Amino acid sequence: MQFIKKNYGWILVSILASLPLLVLFKMLQVDFFNGFSVSLIEGSGAEGKTTLEMLYHVSGEFAIRWMTAVLTCTPFFILFGVSNLYVRQAMGIATAIWSFIHFIIFIAAEGFLETFTQVNYIAGFIAVLLLIPLFFTSNRKSMRYLKDKWKKLQSLVYIIIFLSLLHIVLLEKTWLIYAIVVGLGLVLRIPVVKSYFIKRRKKRKTIQA
Ligand code: HEM
Repeated sequence: MQFIKKNYGWILVSILASLPLLVLFKMLQVDFFNGFSVSLIEGSGAEGKTTLEMLYHVSGEFAIRWMTAVLTCTPFFILFGVSNLYVRQAMGIATAIWSFIHFIIFIAAEGFLETFTQVNYIAGFIAVLLLIPLFFTSNRKSMRYLKDKWKKLQSLVYIIIFLSLLHIVLLEKTWLIYAIVVGLGLVLRIPVVKSYFIKRRKKRKTIQA
């Protein structure tokens, strides 16, 4: 009970991040009997999409949603003074895993070399590559080991979100809402804006006390 009380934040993120996997598994047929093979169950897409389009849709959308959510952690702290590093790390891991799943689906369907045939895929590919070091260092041990370098490494997330948005813009998919949320977060990080909101928050707290 004590463990759940202390860790409910990242446990909740892990559950929320895992649930859409059930949707993916419903579209796949795994055969363990004649060796190991995975095939698509045709007709299991929705909204007029084929199964493959639906797989791209679900994995891509969850990748960008978690990425956007991670980037709202700092603005959330600036506005409300609430932050939890472990929740943030769990969100980062969810982002990376959904991006890796998205890319694995692509490789399985089109082949690895197809990645280099379109600018939007290349942008997504670089984003996925940059997510690898973040994925492996999103834990307490790496933080202690890397010290100041850890924060520098984490700032790769700004390049990653730029490349991911570029990928989605070029694909002409839904990108504006993510760009607005990320953009507002970046505005809040500007030092003068940031200190204004932090001062305002602290002032309110002392008035309430
Ligand atoms: C090697 C890297 C990547 C490849 C090869 C790739 C490939 C694709 C493909 C083939 C589609 C479907 C396009 C279509 O339906 O016309 C797609 C859609 C999408 N991708 Fe990626 N992608 C990559 C990385 C990423 C990353 C890093 C993100 C975000 C974190 C992302 C987010 C999305 C989103 C949001 C969609 C639109 C889904 C929809 O609404 O249908 N992709 N991607």
